[in-house]
Amino acid sequence: MRTQVGIVGAGPAGLLLSHLLHLQGIASVVIDARPRDEIERTIRAGVLEQGTVDLLTRVGLGERLAREAFFHRGVYLRFGGRTHHVDMQALAGGLVTIYPQHEVLKDLIRARLDAGGEMWFEARALALEDIDGSPVIVFAHGGREQRLECDFIAGCDGSHGLCAGAMPDGGATRYERSYPFAWFGILVEAPPSSDELVYASHARGFALLSTRSPTLQRMYLQCDPADRIDDWPDERIWTELRARTAADGWVLKDGRITHKIVVGMRSAVMEPMQQGRLFLAGDAAHVVPPTGAKGLNLAVADVEVLAQAFARHYRDRDGAALARYSADRLPHVWKGQRFSYWMTSLLHRAPGETPFDERRRRAELDELVSSPHLAAALATGYLGVRPLTYA
Ligand code: PHB
Repeated sequence: MRTQVGIVGAGPAGLLLSHLLHLQGIASVVIDARPRDEIERTIRAGVLEQGTVDLLTRVGLGERLAREAFFHRGVYLRFGGRTHHVDMQALAGGLVTIYPQHEVLKDLIRARLDAGGEMWFEARALALEDIDGSPVIVFAHGGREQRLECDFIAGCDGSHGLCAGAMPDGGATRYERSYPFAWFGILVEAPPSSDELVYASHARGFALLSTRSPTLQRMYLQCDPADRIDDWPDERIWTELRARTAADGWVLKDGRITHKIVVGMRSAVMEPMQQGRLFLAGDAAHVVPPTGAKGLNLAVADVEVLAQAFARHYRDRDGAALARYSADRLPHVWKGQRFSYWMTSLLHRAPGETPFDERRRRAELDELVSSPHLAAALATGYLGVRPLTYA
């Protein structure tokens, strides 16, 4: 078997890359160890940057999004019992779009199937061979070991995937940071408690109210990274959420909790993001904590650049853009890291936080909601700035 670009991982990076390559007349095969329904069901992030929405719309993936997504002017910051609206549209000229990642994935898989795209689910990559010469992806599918020869490999299989691990020892550096807290996430059958997302910073810890649909809400609570699902019976969840999001005259709407998960928090960047004919994109190349909702958006921006570079290679016989891929992306990746780290540190209470740290953090929040300049910095970072447009 042979293709032009062999793509490991059918997440947002891998599937969107395959779609963008198809639009440029470039063949690809996507393989993923998971079954299709698991990919389409797994609940992940929910916020799209303006540039992500614009790109998806330009490449024919915006129809259901336009119909079903929520478009918010901004977000609320809540602390000290008061709520402050950050009007991102006024501050940065874009909208906050809430459209869950698994809905993006459903749209992508549908578009690839309609175009006759090759996607092999339940196909586990076992090894990458000869990434500096004639690359081969060795994988297990249908009980057999198979080989996919390709011109290039795109590693889109996440931070624990095979591709990140295939970067040569000594040839790449992974810069990493962990955080002393995690998020406990729930899905709740209830109407929204707020017309826009609420980011709450409280002495008991951070909380976030997000949404999935008019009848399904996504809520998160800062928790200990060692916490397990059983540590959080429903009553404890509601007590903490009510305490952390409390504000005058406001009531948190509760309901049946249908899903619970502990989300770890890490920051990581692989430098460079490429080696020979292997190119990493999305979580395989970098991981951000979920606070800034940047993960999916960084993945989309990676493959936007990578697809253009492949197009230059195949169409114009010009390999310069591919050679520059990592150098082009890393400054934007680090800006995403900086933003995610900042928002995370601003809103969470670290265990062992001193009274000095607490007051310093409070002063920063006060300044953020009273200074249009700082609020604009939050809005620009949150909505994202696009490096390139997809021609
Ligand atoms: C989500 O809806 O899952 C979500 C929203 C905003 C964030 C992170 C996650 O910052």
